[in-house]
Amino acid sequence: MNPITVKDNIYWVGAVDWDIRDFHGYSTNRGTTYNAFLIIDEKVTLVDTVKHEQKNDLITRIKEIIDPEKIDYIVVNHVEMDHSGTLPEMVDLIKPEKVICSKMGHQALLQHFHHDDWPYMVVKSGDEISLGKHTLSFLETRMLHWPDSMFTYVKEERLLFSSDAFGQHLATSERFDDEVDQAILLEELTKYYANILTLYSPNVKRLLAKIEEMALPIDMIAPDHGVIWRTNPATAIASYAKWCHNQGDGNALIIYDTMWHSTEMMAEAIGTGLRDEGISYKLLNLRHNHRSDVMREVLNASALILGSPTLNNGLLPRMAGFLMYMRGLRPTNKIGAAFGSYGWSGESIKLLNEAMTEMKLDLIDDGFRVKYVPQEGDLSHCVALGHKIGKALKEKKE
Ligand code: FEO
Repeated sequence: MNPITVKDNIYWVGAVDWDIRDFHGYSTNRGTTYNAFLIIDEKVTLVDTVKHEQKNDLITRIKEIIDPEKIDYIVVNHVEMDHSGTLPEMVDLIKPEKVICSKMGHQALLQHFHHDDWPYMVVKSGDEISLGKHTLSFLETRMLHWPDSMFTYVKEERLLFSSDAFGQHLATSERFDDEVDQAILLEELTKYYANILTLYSPNVKRLLAKIEEMALPIDMIAPDHGVIWRTNPATAIASYAKWCHNQGDGNALIIYDTMWHSTEMMAEAIGTGLRDEGISYKLLNLRHNHRSDVMREVLNASALILGSPTLNNGLLPRMAGFLMYMRGLRPTNKIGAAFGSYGWSGESIKLLNEAMTEMKLDLIDDGFRVKYVPQEGDLSHCVALGHKIGKALKEKKE
């Protein structure tokens, strides 16, 4: 794939990673891209680099446009290795006049690459630098996704290089939002926010307020992963504006694992109760749904109903792992309830309730457990639990 023109004299020179399927625990079923950009001006500037393994893609694409040694500045919007892994080689090759980064980025670069001899230029929010015809303006975006993260805005082109924000793990031959399937694009945008940024929703809220206050005109958003928002940047911004407020859509998720189908029978009966109340729900068996796909659903859900049988005085391992993952991401403003079967000790409900309490979910029931295999009366109790949750969801909506 050749370099792609993003705007006049601004090119995509990144890499497409078709093969990656795991991004520190997040299932990247559609691969990803590491986007880097080249601005041709009096001061030629490279914005971000790529993962180390994709070094040759970056260099080859740059060489199609210009001799890499003619690059003057490298902007490091984010130090995580998927965007900086190639930086040492690029600094050696380019011998840049400046390596531009935030204050936290400077620290992180020293701690990653141990080069105090690089020509760092530390910038803060509001700082600007002229490249000739283009002016770069910087905005620190701490914790989106790391403390070092920042945005770089090209004023004359109304183009925002947004680093991880507004990204999607999506490998395609296309580079722009209007060239790909919109349902897939939204699915991957949602999954990305759910698995990377849910924890930082308060930061997203502050950032969006800041962008509004600055009245920053944005024609195009170029994130470091996935396609560039050329036609519908407003869709990406509106989605983040919704998600950062943790407003569910009024639906419920029944997330469970099952040993001999008893907990599964309970899950289905709870679903019947929810349906009776007109509540849309999904049954998500952790045996068949990856935790990161479940988190994508959690982002827009209003109730989480968690089920696990008791195994060795604890939870089934898939549920225990999922809880640990979800706790780290801290979804908020949701109703919670627990259910599950047991044989003798029966701790699973207590453990699920403790986890949900710690996550500040609104527990609306003590939870329901059934010894070994549910009978008709037990399943009726589960249907009633579904009714109770459904009614609570409707009250919450009013
Ligand atoms: Fe795509 Fe936080 O790195």
